[in-house]
Amino acid sequence: MTASGEPWRQWQEEVAAVVVVGSCMTDLVSLTSRLPKTGETIHGHKFFIGFGGKGANQCVQAARLGATTSMVCKVGKDSFGNDYIENLKQNDISTEFTYQTKDAATGTASIIVNNEVKTLFNPAPAIADLDPRFYTLSDVFCCNESEAEILTGLTVDSAADAGEAALVLLKRGCQVVIITLGAEGCVVLSQTEPEPKHIPTEKVKAVDTTGAGDSFVGALAFYLAYYPNLSLEDMLKRSNFIAAVSVQAAGTQSSYPYKKDLPLTLF
Ligand SMILES: Nc1ncnc2c1ncn2[C@@H]1O[C@H](COP(=O)(O)OP(=O)(O)OP(=O)(O)O)[C@@H](O)[C@H]1O
Ligand SMILES: *[C@@H]1O[C@H](CO)[C@@H](O)[C@H](O)[C@H]1NC(C)=O
Ligand SMILES: *[C@@H]1O[C@H](CO)[C@@H](O)[C@H](O)[C@H]1NC(C)=O
Repeated sequence: MTASGEPWRQWQEEVAAVVVVGSCMTDLVSLTSRLPKTGETIHGHKFFIGFGGKGANQCVQAARLGATTSMVCKVGKDSFGNDYIENLKQNDISTEFTYQTKDAATGTASIIVNNEVKTLFNPAPAIADLDPRFYTLSDVFCCNESEAEILTGLTVDSAADAGEAALVLLKRGCQVVIITLGAEGCVVLSQTEPEPKHIPTEKVKAVDTTGAGDSFVGALAFYLAYYPNLSLEDMLKRSNFIAAVSVQAAGTQSSYPYKKDLPLTLF
């Protein structure tokens, strides 16, 4: 993914400013008053099918902000897979590199690339012994508090803790490390500014925080690709704002805002 030869460059310019490699998952959601015991059948009061998967979530958020996007992933060769491809198309996402397979999909991580082949890596779900090349090959390494704990072995309960964990990750070779902190916003540091900086966010009334991290990463990919001249701090403030909008509505992709519904000052 980091090759910078001509064919890659051409391919990318034709396809999209934001390319996401990651998972597409179909969520089958049953609302019940309690969990069933082993082997038990219980009544549910509501059922719905949702489009999820961390890679696709991030791609949808970037697309809704106006990015040209392409989703690189595999879905099943079945009706869920067909429906998922239709969902990507509905969101104006290129499915040229979305494949269908009879094997189960295995989404573990996503890499987002813009035209200068900048890589944004989101190690979700995190594993303690992540291949060290993921650090050295990441321009921007972005994870949440629990992922930072798994990756560093440190406890991350505050912005100060996150700053310490981010420094450990930075020393593994990334250019920029961001740790998201839920309602507390995020912490950032970089090789050029290794002093941790806390970027707080406005307090909002959260309805459903599922997928907030993916909204944040998708928004950040959009700013990296389309507003490369903004300061990183400014990009993060705006990504915090967009993710905060997403927590004020129910659902994952269904809560992601479109450019037309956001303040003009974000663009
Ligand atoms: N309650 C909240 N109020 C305002 N902003 C929020 C809130 N929760 C999350 N956010 C925004 O979303 C970003 C990501 O949140 P968080 O750190 O919880 O990610 P996450 O754990 O990966 O999310 P999830 O796993 O729920 O999708 C935060 O950096 C912040 O900008
Ligand atoms: C971080 O993201 C993972 C998904 O990769 C999720 O399971 C976990 O609950 C999140 N942690 C926090 C603190 O939100
Ligand atoms: C970013 O800044 C450079 C140099 O200052 C300028 O040439 C370029 O047009 C700017 N790009 C955007 C998208 O504003």
